[in-house]
Amino acid sequence: MPQVTVNLAERSYPIDIGSGWLADSTALAERLTPHIRGQQVAIISNKTVANIYLAAVLEALADYQVDVFSMRDGEEYKSIETYAQALDFLLQHRHNRSTCLIALGGGVVGDLCGFVAATLQRGVDFIQIPTTLLAQVDSSVGGKTAVNHPVGKNLIGAFHQPVAVCIDTDALATLPPREYAAGLAEVVKYGVITDADFFGWLESNADLLARRDPEALQYAIATSCRIKAEVVAADEREGGRRAILNYGHTFGHAIEKLCGYGVWLHGEAVAIGMVMAAHLSTAHTGLPAAQVVRIEKLLEKLHLPTQWTGRDELQVDAATLLSVMGMDKKAVDGRVRFILAADLGQVDVVDDVAPETIEALWLKLTQAEWA
Ligand code: NAD
Ligand code: GLY
Repeated sequence: MPQVTVNLAERSYPIDIGSGWLADSTALAERLTPHIRGQQVAIISNKTVANIYLAAVLEALADYQVDVFSMRDGEEYKSIETYAQALDFLLQHRHNRSTCLIALGGGVVGDLCGFVAATLQRGVDFIQIPTTLLAQVDSSVGGKTAVNHPVGKNLIGAFHQPVAVCIDTDALATLPPREYAAGLAEVVKYGVITDADFFGWLESNADLLARRDPEALQYAIATSCRIKAEVVAADEREGGRRAILNYGHTFGHAIEKLCGYGVWLHGEAVAIGMVMAAHLSTAHTGLPAAQVVRIEKLLEKLHLPTQWTGRDELQVDAATLLSVMGMDKKAVDGRVRFILAADLGQVDVVDDVAPETIEALWLKLTQAEWA
């Protein structure tokens, strides 16, 4: 069974990656109970996930006082209102400082539960049991917790690391195809940003991954978690290097915002964004054109979009795109920051891309290659 450690001194924690745990309460108890300090546990989940997986977790924790807070399913419920309801629930059920929260679900549940854990009684323990691919390879690791504000996504939050991450790859069997593919976009991201060999492995195993082959999946998830753990250990609070995890996201966030949230899943917008960032890298940091083609082909094999179709109806021009990207959280003093590649596995944060370069890129993508 692969285990990855996030090395953060006294806040270090394990990421256990295996299968069958959510169907075997004894095995699940062995994973969870060493990380629970007191007698109280609160599970935060939603109906979609709880209907399939909650019974097993309850059985594994039969010896504890367990309360379950079920939030509504959807990004729009990752809100201050749900956060306040969760706190009310936990305080009414008298959860004290030694309680342990468990996030059972995708990134929405994980981010909200983490923020509740960060602030309840000035901070309590929490365990992540991520059930989407995106959550297994990205959001459950690294301690970014947040809720959304009408002004923007993830604007209210805290860094608060879990005490353990428990990944059962079997949970992915029930995930809808689009959600599954969206998670694969983040897996591809890890190859592009730090590991050309892993990128090559993804190319060779794309068909197996698209078919959710358990062995291939376990390797892809473990490698993604190892890369994220290394980046987070080097720069927990995103003073610098951690920003590379946002490769493709500057464009991706702009696409999500301009199209309206929900039109593209986050991972789909990131896939398109990664292709745009690759083209920009060719213009700005010398990424060979052949590598751009490899990125596009791999994403296509994984059933991900690589073009921003529908852009004409939106009549987005380069100036609009630039202005939206200027509002991105990563922008500093209005300067748009991009993560650009010099080669596969070699990326850097760049904030000196001239607006004319973006305009030329936009023209190239909309008129020539994407016409
Ligand atoms: P999600 O949590 O909304 O899950 C997607 C859908 O799948 C939901 O309807 C959910 O109920 C359902 N689902 C979950 N597990 C399932 C399963 N095993 N079987 C069937 N259905 C299942 O979406 P997501 O993509 O997991 O997460 C997106 C969120 O993650 C966003 O809010 C984003 O901001 C956040 N995020 C956070 C970080 C971080 O570092 N904290 C990183 C990336 C993304
Ligand atoms: N998903 C970006 C990060 O964790 O930093």
